[in-house]
Amino acid sequence: MPTALITGPTAGIGRAFANAYAERGFDLVLVSRDEVRLKTVAEDLSARHAVTCEVLPADLSDRDAVERVVARIDDQSRPIDALVNNAGFGLNTWFGDTDFADEERSLDVLVRAPLRLTHTAVKQMDRRGDGEIVNVSSVAGFLPRGTYGAHKAWLTSLSAWLNQTYRRRGVRVMALCPGFVRTEFHQRGNMNTRRIPGWMWLDADDLVAEALHDLAAGKAISVPSRRYRALMTLARLTPRSLLTRVSRLGR
Ligand SMILES: NC(=O)c1ccc[n+]([C@@H]2O[C@H](COP(=O)([O-])OP(=O)(O)OC[C@H]3O[C@@H](n4cnc5c(N)ncnc54)[C@H](OP(=O)(O)O)[C@@H]3O)[C@@H](O)[C@H]2O)c1
Repeated sequence: MPTALITGPTAGIGRAFANAYAERGFDLVLVSRDEVRLKTVAEDLSARHAVTCEVLPADLSDRDAVERVVARIDDQSRPIDALVNNAGFGLNTWFGDTDFADEERSLDVLVRAPLRLTHTAVKQMDRRGDGEIVNVSSVAGFLPRGTYGAHKAWLTSLSAWLNQTYRRRGVRVMALCPGFVRTEFHQRGNMNTRRIPGWMWLDADDLVAEALHDLAAGKAISVPSRRYRALMTLARLTPRSLLTRVSRLGR
């Protein structure tokens, strides 16, 4: 049985990835902070899909906890065939108003942890000449959107470069760049979503199905749904100054 390690599988997009990989017959290693919820997800998936689910509680803003996940990926006796760097959260305050500790926590979870885990997984997968990595980024990475957008731009850029560099060697890396997805993300971040029109919301299961299709096709960057691909084409053609003004309506 191949094994997939997924960060943030207790809710939203990560939960949809866990379902999709279990459906494909992958054993799972589930990583996030809430051990009770992790166990519930593990029990549910192992009962429904006859796969083995390991839970690995870890706060990815904590460097020691990240090293425990690194050790699991590095364990050559139990190889990880697929890595999904998905765990994340958003801050709901203006840059100048955030506590720096929160900014650092965001950098650690959205950038440092995926860097550390990808670095470890690529080495192992390259040695075996096989493996896949999905880095859950965001369309916010294509727009001027504060530190969140900057972190996601970094993740998209690194993933695209890794895709070019490693795909000939059997390691597939892709950045997944969703638009708005119905998950716990906005509620957890206490974000007001009332002004976001219904057509802009994506379903997490549909998103993941399209992402895995794009991964199999060898894409470096996946932007699920026609509407978001059209919006991103428009954003590329829009002058930066106007884009910045529109983006200011968000955080
Ligand atoms: N929803 C959207 O509109 C949207 C759009 C674009 C990109 N994204 C990206 O998609 C990813 C998943 O977000 P989502 O929408 O599915 O959010 P979500 O429903 O809030 O789920 C977030 C997941 O991340 C885990 N997590 C959060 N902080 C963590 C930490 N410090 N250490 C370990 N795990 C942590 C949570 O589990 P625990 O609470 O158990 O730790 C949970 O499983 C994020 O990277 C987000 O930036 C979301």
